[in-house]
Amino acid sequence: METLADGDMMFEKLLPSAQSLILVTIAFLLSSIYYLVQTESQKKALRQNFSTWLLRIPRRRRSSTSKTPPRSLTPDKKVSDNTPPTQNYKDTFPPSPRGNLPIWTKSWKSIWASLKRFDVDDGYQEYLQKHLIPWEADYRKCDASTYTPMEISIGEVKALGDFPDYSKLSGVPLPEAYKEFEIEKAIPRPYRPFRWAYHQTMSLGQMEPDWWLELENSYTDRIAERKGLFDKYGKLVLNYLPGSELGCKEIMENALQFYCARYPQYFSLTHSKSKGYVFHNRILKNETIIKDMHPLHVLLENVPEDFAVMLRNPADGKYYFRAGLLCSSLGWNVDTKLGMQLKDIHSPIPDYSNIQLSMDRWFSRLSADRPIQRGSWGLEIDKPLFMPPGDPHEKHREVQHPDLDLSRIHLRVDWQTLRRLPLSGAIIFNFKALFTPIEEFRDEPYIPALVAKLLKEGKRSIMEYKNTWHVEHVALPALEKWAEEQEENGMVQRDWDVRTLEESPWFPGWKEKWHRQQGF
Ligand SMILES: *[C@@H]1O[C@H](CO)[C@@H](O)[C@H](O)[C@H]1NC(C)=O
Ligand SMILES: *[C@@H]1O[C@H](CO)[C@@H](O)[C@H](O)[C@H]1NC(C)=O
Repeated sequence: METLADGDMMFEKLLPSAQSLILVTIAFLLSSIYYLVQTESQKKALRQNFSTWLLRIPRRRRSSTSKTPPRSLTPDKKVSDNTPPTQNYKDTFPPSPRGNLPIWTKSWKSIWASLKRFDVDDGYQEYLQKHLIPWEADYRKCDASTYTPMEISIGEVKALGDFPDYSKLSGVPLPEAYKEFEIEKAIPRPYRPFRWAYHQTMSLGQMEPDWWLELENSYTDRIAERKGLFDKYGKLVLNYLPGSELGCKEIMENALQFYCARYPQYFSLTHSKSKGYVFHNRILKNETIIKDMHPLHVLLENVPEDFAVMLRNPADGKYYFRAGLLCSSLGWNVDTKLGMQLKDIHSPIPDYSNIQLSMDRWFSRLSADRPIQRGSWGLEIDKPLFMPPGDPHEKHREVQHPDLDLSRIHLRVDWQTLRRLPLSGAIIFNFKALFTPIEEFRDEPYIPALVAKLLKEGKRSIMEYKNTWHVEHVALPALEKWAEEQEENGMVQRDWDVRTLEESPWFPGWKEKWHRQQGF
């Protein structure tokens, strides 16, 4: 996030009463100009100009980040004392993006509410607590002076309207346009997230803003496949609970904005009086009228990736899975997890309990300008995308077929990103399942030896979770053969010390291979 500008600093140092006066005067001037202008497009231009010209609301001194440690810091001390997982994050709020709000968003009610806040400096957290939008409430029906956990009032959310500039609000830049991209030839980057020595850590990297949502040549088929899964399974793949309205709208708008900025040759967004916002998709050759559909359905129609919306429960400050579109989950689905708290969603992951405390704490503070990415992997026969419990494909995992053909074995990488949205404060998990025949490893330096090592010496509980056993009898001999071959032909040094590559999650030379295969 941007550091405070000098102007902001000065502003913050003014006496509260002077500050209030300035705010009221500015807001009055702005709203008069605003309402004198008649047409929608003029208003829009004005809004854009206001947001660039004029003062930003100064960032509040946050008790959670300032030198005076508030109550919210106490849970941390407990963590280091190894107290059991009973802490409460009720008083812990994520960093607020208020500093990024354009001033014209301020409604009279929210200005009034923030004026009142100047009198409650010390009791600031209590103030926010008391005025939080209730759990399960639809923001559209809430009072303008109620707040999201991001310290943004509902009045401000409404003033921002549809498709506000999320890159400004969140501090995550929009992607560069990818002009040379051709959908017919595109293949995903060759993610190889193999790590040795293996520990169950999160191994998080910062998200690359250009690569949040990646398109590939399977786009049209995947959209059709995912829509087919929804027709067949309904709520098992797409569902939402009350209170998730703002989070769902925000993730959908973020995703479409990203698509339009990244792939302008294929996507655009227009606005008209009669239809409102319309998303034009030149790959599918059709358009989606945004206001006619639930946001998750807009995503289902256009974005072949999975999204899980986690919301902060005001009762305990922890995060709960409240809405989701998940078409590539194996052995679980939206229906089996909806409503659960973070730790219960992860319960089948071995050793998760070791990191659960730090995860909860980390979540409670995650800032909107710090999106994260990571990969997890497994080996599969063919390309199973979605497997509800009891799916016939599960049977494959119980036996080692003696006549299994090597060409049917695929690496499945679930590439995940995690980010906080700036208005609702929702935390979004986003997944994409990518399949690569393991035969590709043959010319990828170090990869065969690294995977072989993981299969042979990886911690049993984790390898079982990854379900690699059912293909090991065919995969392992091939990997060992290729590792040997790479040493013989000098692709890798003899007897290299097998461990996580410096290029992880890629391998040396991945870019050349990828460009060669795509042809651009
Ligand atoms: C907004 O600023 C642009 C230049 O940045 C200018 O061309 C335009 O006329 C301005 N619009 C209004 C309504 O002031
Ligand atoms: C766009 O086209 C695809 C493929 O023909 C179809 O499945 C989908 O329903 C269409 N979407 C909309 C919003 O009309």
